[in-house]
Amino acid sequence: MKHAVEIDLIDEVLALKSAGSAFLNAAPTQSPADRYVSKDRFRQEQVRIFIKLPGIVAHVSELANPCDFITREVAGRSILITRDKGGQVNAFVNACRHRGTRLVGDGQGSKRHFSCPYHAWTYANTGELISAPHFDRGFPGCDKSSLNLVRLHAREAFGFIWVTVNPDENFDFDAFFEDIAYDLESLHMADMDIKVQNTQLRYANWKILIEGGIESYHFKIAHKSTIGPFFEDNLSTCKMLGTHMRSVLPRSTIGDLKNQPRDRWRLRDHANVLYTLFPGCQILAQQDHVVWISIRPQSVGRTEVRLATMAPKNADQSQDYWQKNHTITTETLNEDFSIGESVQNNAETGAVTTMLFGRFESALDTFNRRVEACLDRPSCR
Ligand code: FES
Ligand SMILES: [Fe+2]
Repeated sequence: MKHAVEIDLIDEVLALKSAGSAFLNAAPTQSPADRYVSKDRFRQEQVRIFIKLPGIVAHVSELANPCDFITREVAGRSILITRDKGGQVNAFVNACRHRGTRLVGDGQGSKRHFSCPYHAWTYANTGELISAPHFDRGFPGCDKSSLNLVRLHAREAFGFIWVTVNPDENFDFDAFFEDIAYDLESLHMADMDIKVQNTQLRYANWKILIEGGIESYHFKIAHKSTIGPFFEDNLSTCKMLGTHMRSVLPRSTIGDLKNQPRDRWRLRDHANVLYTLFPGCQILAQQDHVVWISIRPQSVGRTEVRLATMAPKNADQSQDYWQKNHTITTETLNEDFSIGESVQNNAETGAVTTMLFGRFESALDTFNRRVEACLDRPSCR
């Protein structure tokens, strides 16, 4: 982030704090429960958002060397991601072109070739079909070169590997991230590795889990036993950077900055900065590390959440230090996720038909309106 922007963001928070105010929307808004429980709505989100937009499948350190591969699920489909011997990243539908068997089981490793467990059609890690037993006798007239693995759009950027299942023809990756690219590059995530991670399944709609992180109204209450004491009460700001969102979540030390020279102000020393990369990825930038939060919808009421604490590869801190940080983050986010599951349950049973977003929860309304804009206008720009 540019230092001038850091100063502006700090000024904004300090002004709200000294006025005893908060970052306010014009009026409260309603959020119908249908957004979180409708199966039809969920299908539309998958088709119009998750398969159309790039999603992170891995950090570059997970596919660091030539011939590394990994399998991941994107919008419900199994995807094979490889780094070929030329160093290029490739993504394929993880399905054999003969009769559709899943080519590679869940996992990761290093391989040049992948042989199908059914009849041994064998593919290079560039996707090319290189051998198929008795092919000439069994498949006369079939063009072998048209039976390579189905390739998907894959891209390395900001330290991650992104895959798009079915982008619109004129989709422009660089334009999609243009307004947030500088901030993401400044985090130097390509020079990091994953120190600690965990994955869990949560029984809540993906949007409820995102909503839990982008307001601070709940900090002092829901997180009273974890991070609540270290943060300002109900004081946070947010700004859309294109389709994505940057939230500033100030810690209670932020007021100390008034007595320090402005040119030494550093936002991350006194606030967490949360980037919500539309649709389902969040990067929580803390003082000396980032947490990559991957929100992957499995069904309307079930979501896989992966939390990864990442820090510079050459950081001095011990593994124990990162483990402790990761544990605090996980405990805190689990408080949000458990509450989110209770909201989901009340919505699913019909006990709750609408929710209210207060003026200081404007980020939630903004996020949901962004989702709805994508459902109406599939290009999402
Ligand atoms: S389905 Fe893969 S070789 Fe037959
Ligand atoms: Fe929270």
